[in-house]
Amino acid sequence: MSEKKERAALPAETAEMLMAEAEKARARAYAPYSGFSVGAALLFEDGSVVSGCNVENASYSLSICAERNAMTTAVAMGLTRPTAAAVAGPDGVFCPPCGSCRQFLAEFNGAMPVVIKDARGFRIIALDELLPSGFSLKDGETE
Ligand code: THU
Repeated sequence: MSEKKERAALPAETAEMLMAEAEKARARAYAPYSGFSVGAALLFEDGSVVSGCNVENASYSLSICAERNAMTTAVAMGLTRPTAAAVAGPDGVFCPPCGSCRQFLAEFNGAMPVVIKDARGFRIIALDELLPSGFSLKDGETE
């Protein structure tokens, strides 16, 4: 098994719990313009889970993705080092974090496993596989 695959590993029950929290947040999405509801959940070392949903706006470009909503909420709570993330989109849709959210999450843990909903349930991919050579001002943080 490659080093990256090992780092992306997460116990199945943890991945399921995190995806269930992402689904709960998804149910609270405010997405009247796209109709595409997304939920995200972040796990922290102390066991805390912080979730978020996408929040759209009539001025479309102001819309906020679920992942960034979860991460900014966590920072405001004093939680800055997520150990895993989960993202839930509509059923049957592969819903990985968008490029902006990959960069945004990598600021806080560039190597964490990301549980991504897909047609079969979910798959787990390390953030540094989703965002190879991501930009960082901290040497070695994302590579
Ligand atoms: N969206 C997210 O919440 N997360 C992503 O990573 C991709 C896209 C939202 C933004 C917008 O409200 C809707 O999905 C459709 O693009």
